[in-house]
Amino acid sequence: MVQDISSANTISEIDPDCFRTILRSAAASVVVITTCADGELHGMTATAFSSVSADPPSVLIVVNRTTRSHSRLLRSGRFAINVLAEDQEWIGQRFAGKIEDQFSGVGHIATAEGLPVLTGCAAHMECRTQETVDVGTHTIFVGRVVAGKAEPAAPLLYHDGRFKALAPSREAS
Ligand SMILES: Cc1cc2nc3c(=O)[nH]c(=O)nc-3n(C[C@H](O)[C@H](O)[C@H](O)COP(=O)(O)O)c2cc1C
Repeated sequence: MVQDISSANTISEIDPDCFRTILRSAAASVVVITTCADGELHGMTATAFSSVSADPPSVLIVVNRTTRSHSRLLRSGRFAINVLAEDQEWIGQRFAGKIEDQFSGVGHIATAEGLPVLTGCAAHMECRTQETVDVGTHTIFVGRVVAGKAEPAAPLLYHDGRFKALAPSREAS
């Protein structure tokens, strides 16, 4: 469905359904944001993640204040970003639900930062929260990246309301 927003002069003229439709057009990597607050592990599936700066190495995540993660992230002051691999859709679905015992059956290790990092991911980063900014219903957490690793695995994507894999490179055809 194509939404015409050309007549809209300001963002406030875009109705929420139109806004959501526009966002569904953008593909994003799927990450699980993990943390450990008061000795308890927690994780949440997210796509609102971006790099911010290479010097110092910084990223941001955007977290709804109604999530269980929100207060835990504020309390712990640190988080890991686990970039899911394309065969980890089940993990993306698992951490998008409100289940207890989230990490049961999910391979993970505890890092020196005391953060749970999921095994088999395309990459992970460990971050210390530098700054938080409230915007509407969400909070932006800016994190200083203190450790991380990339693996040779293709990332899982989310587009138009569905989990997807990367298409083969055009150069290969
Ligand atoms: C693909 C996908 C992406 C999501 N991205 C975000 C996000 O960026 N920020 C957010 O607050 N919630 C996001 N959510 C919703 C949370 O995963 C969901 O609310 C989850 O239940 C929160 O868990 P918690 O309450 O245990 O923290 C996303 C869900 C899915 C399926």
